[in-house]
Amino acid sequence: MLNKKTIILGVTGGIAAYKAADLASKLIQSGASVRVIMTRNAQEFITPLTFEAITSSAVVTDMFQTAAEHRINHIALAEIADAVLIAPATADIMAKLATGIADDMLTTTVLATRAPVILAPSMHTQMYQNPVTQENESRLKARGFYIIPPATGRLASGGYGPGRLPDTEVIIGHLKAVLGRSGDLAGMNIIVTAGGTQEPIDPVRVITNRSSGKMGYAIAEAARDRGARVTLISAPVSIPAPPVVDIIRVETAVQMKEAVQRAVSGADALIMAAAVADFQARDIAENKIKKEKGNLTLELTGTPDILAELNGDFLKIGFAAESQDLLENAQRKLIAKKLDLIVANNITEENSGFGSDTNKVTLIDKNGVVQNLPLLSKREVADRILDQVVRLLNLKKSNNNPAQKNTPA
Ligand code: C5P
Repeated sequence: MLNKKTIILGVTGGIAAYKAADLASKLIQSGASVRVIMTRNAQEFITPLTFEAITSSAVVTDMFQTAAEHRINHIALAEIADAVLIAPATADIMAKLATGIADDMLTTTVLATRAPVILAPSMHTQMYQNPVTQENESRLKARGFYIIPPATGRLASGGYGPGRLPDTEVIIGHLKAVLGRSGDLAGMNIIVTAGGTQEPIDPVRVITNRSSGKMGYAIAEAARDRGARVTLISAPVSIPAPPVVDIIRVETAVQMKEAVQRAVSGADALIMAAAVADFQARDIAENKIKKEKGNLTLELTGTPDILAELNGDFLKIGFAAESQDLLENAQRKLIAKKLDLIVANNITEENSGFGSDTNKVTLIDKNGVVQNLPLLSKREVADRILDQVVRLLNLKKSNNNPAQKNTPA
């Protein structure tokens, strides 16, 4: 998604300026072309040489020197930008941009660009919370600037609070969300579930499964990058939450059902990648069950089938993780649960299914097999599933408006 995109990275003079080197590096590794503009103050914290080495491009530090030496100017940079990302953004740059001051390469480039401008404010908490900074931030937002909320934590200046530059992955997540705003899922509201539910048997023990959540998280990220508004309903997992995705954390199948029920109103698609427990303890012991008891017999009852029980004006997409008779079982579930699409997942294949970073799946709809995909990364599988979501949403739209189908262009 960042491949071949041109990102103008503006670095201003804050203590977090050194973190912009990691950001530049990760952007380059993602295939982006990065041009760095540094303010004079930024150069007190980190040298242009660092960015030149990382980006293999001249770093722009001063308007007149640069124009003469590199034959580039603010207009040229403004025009080639797919996005301008200012990280870290000081209170000073926010004030300048909020009032339209353009007195150096960064501010003139921002003024001249039509590309989205993203700011990652980073400063001492009191400075950030100062009404002047807050007012500047509101003004910037009102003018269409995208603000990445600062992270909360320990600050270099001492103290604790909002003002830290978020982690590189979080900044890149926001950048992708902005770049994806006009994607093929723009305006769509997509609900994704992920992870393996945990069904308690006593205060310390649970029944769960080997789901890592990676497939569902990859779908949530991919949908975000294609412009969708994404709600991720997640059972406990040990992977980080994707930025710019609303995350609702649940533990049990019953909790997941309640969360999905609330989330689907107004949704365009529900993608159930979660491995929902099929059984729960009939009675949850109030105290830890003692091992002195010797053998233990647990009585289990069924859990609600979330997908089967929920119907509405949204696409229903399910997964079938099977160890035998893959296609037959998947097709049966597609019909039984009234799904629009099922992702049949052979969990006995090597590097496929639970826990791995890759997956081998077959996509099946009401008319039969749509695609038999080779072993792919979970992110690629996510995008192929979303291709089908786009197709099915378009199909639904044209079925709902049959007149449009016959209207001559
Ligand atoms: O467990 P099963 O193979 O029936 O799961 C197929 C699909 O149904 C999956 O998408 C899973 O998320 C969903 N499911 C559910 N509620 C359950 C069990 C499974 O929504 N109790």
